[in-house]
Amino acid sequence: MQHIILDCDPGHDDAMAILLAVGNPDIDLIGVTTVGGNQSLDKVTYNARSVLEMAHAADIPVHAGCDRPLLRPLEVAASIHGESGLDGVALPEPTRPLDAGHAVNWIIDTIMNSEPGTITLVPTGPLTNIAIAARMEPRIVERVKEVVLMGGGVHVGNWSPVAEFNIKTDPEAARMVFREPWPLTMVGLDLTHQALCTPQVQSRIDAIGTELSAFASGLMDFFRASYRNDEDFVDPPVHDPCTIAYLIDPDVMTMRRCPLDVETADGPALGMTVADLRGSEPSAQDCHTQVALKLDFDRFWNMIIDAITRIG
Ligand code: BDR
Ligand code: CA
Repeated sequence: MQHIILDCDPGHDDAMAILLAVGNPDIDLIGVTTVGGNQSLDKVTYNARSVLEMAHAADIPVHAGCDRPLLRPLEVAASIHGESGLDGVALPEPTRPLDAGHAVNWIIDTIMNSEPGTITLVPTGPLTNIAIAARMEPRIVERVKEVVLMGGGVHVGNWSPVAEFNIKTDPEAARMVFREPWPLTMVGLDLTHQALCTPQVQSRIDAIGTELSAFASGLMDFFRASYRNDEDFVDPPVHDPCTIAYLIDPDVMTMRRCPLDVETADGPALGMTVADLRGSEPSAQDCHTQVALKLDFDRFWNMIIDAITRIG
């Protein structure tokens, strides 16, 4: 069983990550924390609570975190996720009040009060909360099991020619998180651009025939339109749940262990993740970071469809 904290900014694909985490029996989603990213903090926090409500998982706590990057103004991704951050679906009113306490404090307290090596951090938004948590309580770095994040790309960008949205939004935070010595898996665009919600996949989601499957399909309709209009994609890449899929079954993707760093200088490469792929692959003792490269498409979508089916 993997005990995870999902630090997210829902977001259509963040919502799919929540559904996969809630619906998979090997994942224990102990809490959701939110960060300003795809939309403002208040909007993404509402969305997280609403998606949990939709997934019959309102018992899972939600803590709101940082409303903007460390040094830069927040530039939201309304072109992809709409004005609400989850445009295209009706969001149920959350029944559970927002939990008190800042996300960063909750992340720290949760990790420090758990057995060492038992909590995995899964960031699927800008890395602001995680960077601040590591500074406020440096002991969390050796205490977490690992960090598995969606962000970056070795050979590809989406928010600039070379930078991905989550990293480019808060590059200083990303650099801090990448440079801490915890085991870190970067599930970036190289991998997530293979996680396409094709019409065949979406008809399998529709065939589940529940309110939740219709909700997920509505998310995918909007996401498809955004990616067609804005990014020249035929089918939308469903980035964020790839992190959870890796935790459920690492064989769903192939990895390359390599040193990783983040460009923070203003200019055309701001927010680029730089992977050192020279030479032979280092061992886990020598290198604490790895990147995901190749997705087992069928295995991935089977997990998502199974999770939505299980939730009912
Ligand atoms: C990432 O950016 C956000 O818009 C998505 O939710 C995902 O986390 C992809 O670049
Ligand atoms: Ca996200």
